[in-house]
Amino acid sequence: METKSRTVTFDGAPAPGVINFGIGQPSADLLPVELMREATADFLAQAHPLELNYGERQGDAAFRSALAGFLSPEYAHPVTAESLFVTAGNSQALDFICGQFARQGDTVFIEEPSYFLAHQIFADHGLNCVGIPVDEDGLKIDGLEEMLESHRPALLYTIPSFHNPGGQTLSTERRRHLARLSREHDFLVVADEVYQLLHYFGTPPPAMGTMTQSGNILSLGSFSKIMAPGLRLGWIQTSPDLMGRMLDTGVVNSGGSFNHFTSHVMRHAIELGLQQSLLDTLRATYRQRVETMDRALHEHLGGLATWRRPGGGYFFWLELGENLDTGKLKTRAGEFRTGFQPGELFSCSGGLKNCLRLSFAHYGDDDIEEGISRLGALLNSCSAP
Ligand SMILES: Cc1ncc(COP(=O)(O)O)c(C=O)c1O
Repeated sequence: METKSRTVTFDGAPAPGVINFGIGQPSADLLPVELMREATADFLAQAHPLELNYGERQGDAAFRSALAGFLSPEYAHPVTAESLFVTAGNSQALDFICGQFARQGDTVFIEEPSYFLAHQIFADHGLNCVGIPVDEDGLKIDGLEEMLESHRPALLYTIPSFHNPGGQTLSTERRRHLARLSREHDFLVVADEVYQLLHYFGTPPPAMGTMTQSGNILSLGSFSKIMAPGLRLGWIQTSPDLMGRMLDTGVVNSGGSFNHFTSHVMRHAIELGLQQSLLDTLRATYRQRVETMDRALHEHLGGLATWRRPGGGYFFWLELGENLDTGKLKTRAGEFRTGFQPGELFSCSGGLKNCLRLSFAHYGDDDIEEGISRLGALLNSCSAP
């Protein structure tokens, strides 16, 4: 079927001709219109009218079963339908969790740096963010233990695999330690596992969702990165106790499942094998883009920045010379028809000004090469005498 030619816009859409690596969304060629058509038609051809009523508060049982069947081999660990709660994606899940499990004025521990829009969700709920340092293996447990001596957080928000923005992955040992500490100090680990399945060079350590028996864990998963952000569909995996607390809330008692219709469509996508085949395509495509961006960075930014090649997810995190302020640099990036997100955005204390984040999700290889060469020109213009 022909695609209608019209302009589709979104918040933060780049001006024509600009290659903006600040955009953390898939490129058009990876958004599965045909697949959605097939899955939706399959659902509608077989739909029972009652499937258009309110959905179960926890989420449709048949969908949760299909999702559990999809996640179990991916996690190499049995996932049960009973442990899953359907959400409208991780942003909504985070907002919901803050509303249910924290009170204004509570403390939330958060990696420094972390996902900048999570900062805003915590601020919406009047929570105080306290940064915990990270290294190449993720959240530093000794730093966390030190902070636990002087704070009693309600929540700890972490992105364990292929971090946004840092790209690093929390080691297995640290995951286990974190789970244990959550029990000993009575806080909730909110593990944003949005990139857990997007691995390109080998699988990450087990999802925190597989550790709900040994810690107070809410593991957040989403179809945004493995199918399409516009679906607004995700899940929380947790223990029976925390599940009970989520089910006993006004919003689900009133409206039922957070995204019932889309969950039916996604059940069919999973059962037809379409989700798995798209995930395989995404892994191969993004792997190639990581390699392309890494090569281009070496060619155009070698000596100007340091970075680690990410093993998955969407992002490269670059550290530039100490005196560079990437917030100021961003205002000049338009002149060079390129773009990025400045490091300060990801800091809860106004630091990281000399860092920046690049996403490789929104552009193909040619644009990545071109955009990185423009970024190199921008940086070279700053270091020129
Ligand atoms: C770490 C992280 N959490 C959450 C989200 C948003 O997830 P969702 O689309 O499921 O709301 C993103 C998207 O970039 C993300 O990087």
